[in-house]
Amino acid sequence: MTPTNESKYYPPLTDGFGRRHTSLRISVTDRCNIRCFYCMPEENVRFRPREELLTFEEVEQVAAVMLRLGVTKFRLTGGEPLVRANLPNLVQRLASLPGLTDLALTTNGILLADQAPALKAAGLRRLNISLDALDAEAFRRIARRDGLEQVLEGIETARQLGFEKIRLNAVAIRGITEVQLLPLARFARERDLELRFIEFMPLDAESRWDNSQVMSGVEIRQCLEAEFGPLIPAPRPDPSQPATDFLFHDGRGRIGLIHPVTQPFCGDCNRLRITAEGKLRNCLFSTAEWDLRELLRAGTRENVVHGSVHRFAAASSAGIADSEQEAAMIARIRQCVAAKKPGHGIDTPEFIRPERAMYQIGG
Ligand code: 5AD
Ligand code: SF4
Repeated sequence: MTPTNESKYYPPLTDGFGRRHTSLRISVTDRCNIRCFYCMPEENVRFRPREELLTFEEVEQVAAVMLRLGVTKFRLTGGEPLVRANLPNLVQRLASLPGLTDLALTTNGILLADQAPALKAAGLRRLNISLDALDAEAFRRIARRDGLEQVLEGIETARQLGFEKIRLNAVAIRGITEVQLLPLARFARERDLELRFIEFMPLDAESRWDNSQVMSGVEIRQCLEAEFGPLIPAPRPDPSQPATDFLFHDGRGRIGLIHPVTQPFCGDCNRLRITAEGKLRNCLFSTAEWDLRELLRAGTRENVVHGSVHRFAAASSAGIADSEQEAAMIARIRQCVAAKKPGHGIDTPEFIRPERAMYQIGG
């Protein structure tokens, strides 16, 4: 086969521990229309200026290179991705790239009722919708804004449109989740939606996270089993999936428990993340970043000093980088992957919180 830019594949992104990276989470904005306490400051958030964000063309370029490096799955995240203008346009660009097997989106659901039809038409297949509580007052305590009604409407619209898969995500927080657990489980079961509980991780913007607020996967399972009877462990075809899944014994419904804090799953991690302004991260808890935007924009500036960089200028239009730019990007992506640590170490004394909070990474 003659390698053209579109058919060229490179050796995969395998790190020093043999983990092959096939999944990229793409943050499209750090903005959000609510202020969940586990993710964002309550007021006076300093968002990135728009010109710092990757354009859709730039995201597409990164995505095309990643696909040639063996990445097969993309997930769009934020902040809240639906506050980024024209998101269906990006979905459409990504959905048509060769090599992609899965394109998903994580949203808080507030703007979903409006946007779900266009997203579906653009080629989005899967949705994760955050829903931590089914009670308006609890929702407000978490999100520090109103919005439960809109989220529920968004979920209903998405269901009617028939997405391939819709999953609900709930962050499990002691003092809040205990009373929401059963209503959430019933809500999801009745609608045949998958529900996942995620342990609260130290990625809140106000550094208030404390281990005592973490409701563990084991505790959640116990609460659910007390009500619904034994949960049956579900088969696990993909070891890199972060959730341990269970089926209700009557066959209806599926619950996932994601326990990054109490039982880290770093050993099977296959993910990379790119922030809205183009920094590549090898872990949610990474303290280092690799700047891809600099390479994407290098040739478009007039004061380029680096000898080989001026040729990059013409490359960016088609979403396919020219070979020199591509080589520079690949080298940097490989550096990022090679530097990946075996685990996040939340449970060790050496753990260092990343400077970024969740809304600046994308989850
Ligand atoms: N701990 C666990 N999950 C979190 N999320 C956001 N912040 C945290 C945190 N500190 C999850 C939310 C949302 C997704 C974007 O990330 O559930 O669904
Ligand atoms: Fe917004 Fe999502 Fe962060 Fe909540 S978790 S503030 S919805 S970005």
